[in-house]
Amino acid sequence: MEVRAIPALGLGRSSAPFRAAWACLRQGISFSNISADDLAFVYENTLITPEARKLFGTHSTPRQVAEYVVQRLDLHQHRPEELQIYEPFAGAGIFLVSALRHLRDLLPIDWTDQRRHDFLVHHLAGDEIDPFACEVATLSLILADYPNHNGWHIREADLFEQDALEKQMRAHNVILCNPPFEAFNPKERSRYPITAQTYSKPVAVLNAALNAHPLALGFVLPRPFILEKQFAEQRRRIEQLYGTVELVELPDRAFGASVIEAALLIASDSRPPAPAVITLRSTEIADRDRSTFLKTGKTTMQRRLVRPVAEDATGELWIPPLASLWQYVDSYPRLGTKLQPSRGLEWTYDQTKAFSEQPQPGFRKGLHSARRFRQFVLGRPVWLDYRRESVRRGYDQDWDNPKLITNAGRLSRGPWRIGAALDTEGLLYSQQFFGLWPERPLSERDLLALAAILNGPVANAFIAVHSPAKGIRTSAIEQIPIPPSLPDQLTDFVAEYLALLGNPQALRDNDERLAVLLTQIDAAVLEAYDLSPRLEQQLLEYFQDTERPVAHPWAHWDVTAPTPGLRLAERVSGRFRPHGDWIAEVFRPLPEREADLLRELGE
Ligand SMILES: C[S@@+](CC[C@H](N)C(=O)[O-])C[C@H]1O[C@@H](n2cnc3c(N)ncnc32)[C@H](O)[C@@H]1O
Repeated sequence: MEVRAIPALGLGRSSAPFRAAWACLRQGISFSNISADDLAFVYENTLITPEARKLFGTHSTPRQVAEYVVQRLDLHQHRPEELQIYEPFAGAGIFLVSALRHLRDLLPIDWTDQRRHDFLVHHLAGDEIDPFACEVATLSLILADYPNHNGWHIREADLFEQDALEKQMRAHNVILCNPPFEAFNPKERSRYPITAQTYSKPVAVLNAALNAHPLALGFVLPRPFILEKQFAEQRRRIEQLYGTVELVELPDRAFGASVIEAALLIASDSRPPAPAVITLRSTEIADRDRSTFLKTGKTTMQRRLVRPVAEDATGELWIPPLASLWQYVDSYPRLGTKLQPSRGLEWTYDQTKAFSEQPQPGFRKGLHSARRFRQFVLGRPVWLDYRRESVRRGYDQDWDNPKLITNAGRLSRGPWRIGAALDTEGLLYSQQFFGLWPERPLSERDLLALAAILNGPVANAFIAVHSPAKGIRTSAIEQIPIPPSLPDQLTDFVAEYLALLGNPQALRDNDERLAVLLTQIDAAVLEAYDLSPRLEQQLLEYFQDTERPVAHPWAHWDVTAPTPGLRLAERVSGRFRPHGDWIAEVFRPLPEREADLLRELGE
């Protein structure tokens, strides 16, 4: 095979060390021994500086993510000559390379290499502001279509200038895009007319794509796109324009060098002609599956729903996990009917300095950091600055009333988000916590039972599904469904559990007893919700392989022992133990009088 050196295409971004590094790389590699994927890797990991990343809002899409999007667009449903594929904000052209491979597979096999190349260069295009990225994108396409020559249309352009974006979107009909996520800065606001609509770059770019109504689109977007208000209008438009919509919640740290939280939007089956029904897919990749997904594209789970589209589309494109559970408990009372969340103290100066380890005049005992906060356990109190002039928010709460205290930021990345503990000592708390204050007087027993509910699987799953990834909303806390009545035995378990936790000796020796008690607490809470075995099983599986923020070792509930298909309360009851006396317990002989009555009826 002929070995050609990579040509010099005229390096745009012009720092001398970069030029030297690039020249060196170009000399050392040849078309026959580097692939487009290798080049994208080199670009992302060595050729883009932190300054360029910040300046241009660069976070490069990993190869498998681009591949996933392009593959899900089902381009083969269209005639290849109909497709005009465009990647605005192209960076190293990662989406174009994926699209090239898919499009090439759709072309007749009897075409010559040259004919195929000519077709591809006329059906794939990208724009990018960074001349260096333009060069890398062009090289990537050359490498992906080796041994054909150049001719690729990667234009150096500022897409926010005038009507550049709208024009280019309208000139193509498949849009693949990972836009910069930042807001327009003040300088850009005075420069770009597009900022009259919105200050958000991803919103501006998505609006331009939707205005053009392409056959299909695949976008990387900030994760709030899935549920948050700021994208509600765009979600409604997508529901009206497309018959098939998949949203993928990407795990944290999916974008290598960049710390962004992102989601994928994949929309196809443009309407019309697609009928007024929408097929929704909601795809998740759990943290533990991140590296498998980045290597193979394998996802953790997918939920699917087909539903009609009303004239006034709702824009609800995300099927929440455990949807049937939320439907089942929809008529249950909400936590807000018993407890009102209130934010903690905020100070007029550096929040990290507003406490002392020792008592001081004007300081009161309270919780400052939620870092070590665990379910049922308040953590070590310190002395919080409570001088009137130092407190900006949260002064004058009814500190001396008993209350529950919960964390305001998530306790873990997984579905275990929230912990609650009872405070009867009048502790103050910082903004890292919420206080949950009784609406009407509640006994300590009731408060302990409510703490068990908040620390249980229903409340934690509810917060994980209904609150943003990092924070916890007071509105979500108020909306937590609670059981219609609280079982009395629950508080006895909690009291015993707390007594054991409060004994440092016990912590060393009684881990197993603590885990059993916690399972009994969960079982009592779940029994009060009265879920079907199927719903309960789905709920418990949602917590599989996750770490629970408790003060002792805890493994996931054993959902198979003693036999599968039981509810947790049935498992812990002992009635179903293989060698237990459950048959005798359940099938007791009828009392004599009832047996006589039955006999009479049978005659
Ligand atoms: C988030 S990166 C995406 C890169 C690539 N499409 C990918 O998916 O890996 C955004 C890209 O947009 C480019 N960009 C930023 N502002 C731009 C503008 N005004 N016009 C054109 N491109 C721009 C950046 O240089 C960067 O390469």
